[in-house]
Amino acid sequence: MRVVILISGRGSNMRALLESDLASSASVEFVCVISNKADAAGLQIAAAHGVPTEVLEHRAFPDRASFDMALAARIDAYQADVVILAGFMRVLTEVFVRHYENRLINVHPALLPAFPGLDTHARAIAAGVKLHGCTVHFVTPEVDAGPIIAQAAVPVLADDTPQSLAARVLRQEHRIFPLVVGWLARGWVKVRANGTVALIQDRSIDADAALISPSAPSAN
Ligand code: GAR
Repeated sequence: MRVVILISGRGSNMRALLESDLASSASVEFVCVISNKADAAGLQIAAAHGVPTEVLEHRAFPDRASFDMALAARIDAYQADVVILAGFMRVLTEVFVRHYENRLINVHPALLPAFPGLDTHARAIAAGVKLHGCTVHFVTPEVDAGPIIAQAAVPVLADDTPQSLAARVLRQEHRIFPLVVGWLARGWVKVRANGTVALIQDRSIDADAALISPSAPSAN
């Protein structure tokens, strides 16, 4: 499975993918990392892993449509089967998204459909939720709304700051993103007609597994 990763900054999710065993275990080939920002720190990490990098500055284009068209041309030059948004902080046009229907995935730092958009960790703390987390989903034209493939939940602690909560969530992003890419490579992920995801995998799910928060001793 040929994969192109799109980034805008730090690239820690990209790093988790490049440092996973996906190349050997699932025949995943990371063929290029493309950033819309020349100073994205992730570009150095990708190069250090021997992955070709490209910069396509969105500022060089007059509008969203022309940038997305140029981006798709670069991606398609690598004959990508799957495109991964790993902290790619751009809203994509419907034309672009449709072109990669069911081949374009994103990680979002919240348990969608809760907290789409920005500042998810501060908003989760302000809302008083006891569980927060991250979602890997297929991208559809509506922002942060596509078919959900996998989620990881973490507790929200009483003394959390947006930064401490973000760090806890990020550790789980780094776990579920490679997992999902492996499932895609094995053909285990199917999108149903109703827009939800069915996982065809040879392992059972523990129906009683739960992360309870707060987990303080109870009277019972
Ligand atoms: C990650 O937390 C990712 O979930 C978030 O940006 C961060 C990128 O970090 N993405 C979004 O908010 C997209 N809606 P990284 O560059 O270290 O992977």
